[in-house]
Amino acid sequence: MGSAGGYDFSFKILLIGDSGVGKSSLLLSFTSHSLESLAPTIGVDFKIKQLTVAGKKLKLTIWDTAGQERFRTLTSSYYRGAQGIILVYDVTRRETFTNLTDVWAKEVELYSTNQDCIKMLVGNKVDMESERAVTREEGLALAQEHKCLFLECSAKNSINVEKCFEELALKILDMPSLLEEGSTLVKRNILKQKPEDHPPTNGCC
Ligand code: GTP
Repeated sequence: MGSAGGYDFSFKILLIGDSGVGKSSLLLSFTSHSLESLAPTIGVDFKIKQLTVAGKKLKLTIWDTAGQERFRTLTSSYYRGAQGIILVYDVTRRETFTNLTDVWAKEVELYSTNQDCIKMLVGNKVDMESERAVTREEGLALAQEHKCLFLECSAKNSINVEKCFEELALKILDMPSLLEEGSTLVKRNILKQKPEDHPPTNGCC
């Protein structure tokens, strides 16, 4: 195993949730350990990160979708082939939590193409504890109801950010149907990536 730059599996991960919950910040914190001031995402953006989980070299292509409603039709097509979906809410804004049920879980149901796709509920901004509007217990209960993994985190303080992606990747590795060809997996040394397998290089669609 392990030629330079190679990987064992390639996973597509999607970040969804209301505008302003911190999806782009989570992605930036994970991929570059920084948190700059971010403008709302227009449509969809993506970043690639390699990491090793359970002895497997993984290439994660993480798609950051716009939370704003006006981009909703544009982002729906990006669910296709995702092995992991992270549903983000802001622990200080209760409506972002209730919208997980009212809006986002329905979108996943409608557009997700992998039946066994692993879902994770993430409550962001735990650094703002004094402004908390959703308890950890409520988050956990909703995650159990929707059969999701669950974590609370802070993109600002980098609390639990890596853990989010690592736990999700670990669970995907545990699901044989998500490791098959055709669920957009590319197994190193077996399949060669075709140019069309790569997302557009400008990073934004
Ligand atoms: P859209 O692109 O519109 O869907 O928004 P988004 O979900 O990507 O949110 P974004 O990452 O742009 O963050 C929105 C605001 O929340 C920014 O001002 C961030 O700096 C702030 N923010 C993000 N994560 C955290 C966090 O963990 N703690 C605190 N205190 N602020 C955060």
